[in-house]
Amino acid sequence: MTRQVTRDKIRVIHSLGAYDVQYLRFSEAMERLPDGSVIVTDENVWSAWGGAFRAGVPVYRVPAGEGSKCLERYSAVIDALSEAAVDRSATIVAIGGGVVGDLAGFVAATYMRGIPYVQVPTSLLAQVDSSVGGKVAIDTPRGKNLIGAFYPPQAVHIACETLDTLPERQYANGMAEVWKYGFIMDAGLVEVLSRSGARDAIEGVVRRCIELKASLVQADEFDRTGKRAVLNFGHTVGHALEKVTGYEALLHGEAVAVGMAIEADLGERIGLTARGTADTVRRCLASQGLPTTHEALSRTDALIDAMRNDKKALAGVPAFSLITRVGECKLVSDIGVDDVRAVLRA
Ligand code: GLY
Repeated sequence: MTRQVTRDKIRVIHSLGAYDVQYLRFSEAMERLPDGSVIVTDENVWSAWGGAFRAGVPVYRVPAGEGSKCLERYSAVIDALSEAAVDRSATIVAIGGGVVGDLAGFVAATYMRGIPYVQVPTSLLAQVDSSVGGKVAIDTPRGKNLIGAFYPPQAVHIACETLDTLPERQYANGMAEVWKYGFIMDAGLVEVLSRSGARDAIEGVVRRCIELKASLVQADEFDRTGKRAVLNFGHTVGHALEKVTGYEALLHGEAVAVGMAIEADLGERIGLTARGTADTVRRCLASQGLPTTHEALSRTDALIDAMRNDKKALAGVPAFSLITRVGECKLVSDIGVDDVRAVLRA
């Protein structure tokens, strides 16, 4: 498919400066890599796009999947960089989805106390969410993203045509986050998505999501005031589901889709969310082929335990970004465990 590439950039301003998020053809993204680049990617992206990587740039490959966001893999990449005598003049280039971006970004944040990095997100999920905002992290057995940093990239080059080769499940996985932006802050986006889920309109949709995300991360770069935390609609339950199912059964967006359905129920149960909103959320997600329930929801104790360890929790009390209606949301941190248990069981 010949894709029209939007040339304008979205500038994200942060405490250390600014970076641009821009749509580029894959080949252009490669041409723009600075001298001294070192690529980190995964085996799947290597198989699909490795032939188009810039010649002569060293490549470190990790297995595909959330399992690579672990201390052992982090340590292995650090060792490989050090054995190759990579120094502070280097730039790490993360080519891949959220896992690669988070792992490579955290390596960049910590190797020799920090070297520059560029994100080249190839999955829809990474393009609309994880590549923008400077959150980088790895998981531990006790929780997702428990070790990490706020470390802004030098640039985000969205390799737009990589979406054309994305398998349907991965595409729907990213669309979960796209619907989320609509549910939390843009009812118009929900309308657009409801009218047409067409993949050929995706560039405008991705752009809108990045604008929305940029506005939140600029307002609350370090996730301290609650403004950025609203991006976590569906994530308190979603992260807990990922944890109790061992990070492999569900893709992140699938777990968040189930989480959004349950958290919409929770909002209705406590009287915060307009009646009927949870039905709308379920209908939208189902139209995208996303799950809205999962058998592991019956493991209420394990899920609540995981929610108590969520980064938004304070003193072990889980917090939730809940929608008040489609297009509006609120961070809530005083919900009783009995209400959470009830919606998980329902
Ligand atoms: N993905 C949520 C955030 O960047 O804050």
